[in-house]
Amino acid sequence: MSQHHPHRILVTGADGQLAQCIRLEAVHHPEHTFRFVTRADMPIGDPEKVRAVFLAWAPTVCINCAAYTAVDRAEVEETEALHVNAVAVGILAAACREQRVQLIHLSTDYVFSGNAQTPYREDDPTEPLGVYGASKRAGEVLAQQEAPESLVIRTSWVYSEVGKNFLLTMVRLMSERDSVGVISDQWGCPTYARDLADALLRIIDGGRFTPGIYHYCNEGAITWYRFATAIRDLLGSACEVRSIPTHEYPTPVRRPAYSVLDTRRFRQTFGIMPPPWLVSLEVCLSRLRHAQG
Ligand SMILES: NC(=O)c1ccc[n+]([C@@H]2O[C@H](COP(=O)([O-])OP(=O)(O)OC[C@H]3O[C@@H](n4cnc5c(N)ncnc54)[C@H](OP(=O)(O)O)[C@@H]3O)[C@@H](O)[C@H]2O)c1
Repeated sequence: MSQHHPHRILVTGADGQLAQCIRLEAVHHPEHTFRFVTRADMPIGDPEKVRAVFLAWAPTVCINCAAYTAVDRAEVEETEALHVNAVAVGILAAACREQRVQLIHLSTDYVFSGNAQTPYREDDPTEPLGVYGASKRAGEVLAQQEAPESLVIRTSWVYSEVGKNFLLTMVRLMSERDSVGVISDQWGCPTYARDLADALLRIIDGGRFTPGIYHYCNEGAITWYRFATAIRDLLGSACEVRSIPTHEYPTPVRRPAYSVLDTRRFRQTFGIMPPPWLVSLEVCLSRLRHAQG
């Protein structure tokens, strides 16, 4: 496909964080036509609804941002998590193949155990620690099985000025408290959802849909503690950030201790360089400040 070929881009999970960020970035891509569908408009596991939307609107690309993302709750809602993150992805992917729609599916660093010591490559063995990670891994497999042309993009530690995320939680806590405890022994890569949204739209612009799994996150590996101190410093807050070990903050599901993603394949295939994490954090916080007036 030629460069800047106009596309009809269907984005699922429209009320979610990433979809909202794609909507914000879409204004920079007037050559494409966008449609954002919520769970009510098009539950991705409902083959009739998916078919109806595909036939009526004729998308050329579908970015699947719909997901069950409640990591801890998934342990007690396994059926629902598996339905949305795996079964429904298979249904959506089959519709994409049948209707010749290019699928871009999102996945997660939680497909890995976090026992590694060097950044994860796409072909490294997966070993999810909980139901959420296992359901997302099953979704990757189904996406590739049902739509072999699909792109599966794994990302990590997603934040932005919209939706529910670590950054917004920290901003709130730092305005309410004198001190906040943050985990200092889990390593990963923050991802500004607007950088990811921009990258996805640039892949579509380029029209080079090389199928496969890819890793996308901002550049640089840090701990949640480092992330929190950077947020505090950029806010100019006096809040104390206390370093706490994982064992002092028990959660129903163990988080990977090291889920740093290697983005080489993404960079080499698409020629898109993810910005350094601190640069993106600054951009996000300045937009947040601007939005708050
Ligand atoms: N957030 C992170 O830190 C992170 C990290 C790594 C990977 N990811 C992946 O990135 C992608 C986007 O995540 P996000 O942060 O934007 O998630 P999000 O904010 O939780 O949004 C997910 C959206 O999907 C919708 N949804 C749930 N079930 C659906 C269904 N059956 N049909 C249609 N829509 C449905 C949800 O609607 P309801 O609100 O009605 O449930 C919600 O609006 C996901 O694939 C996620 O696994 C996220």
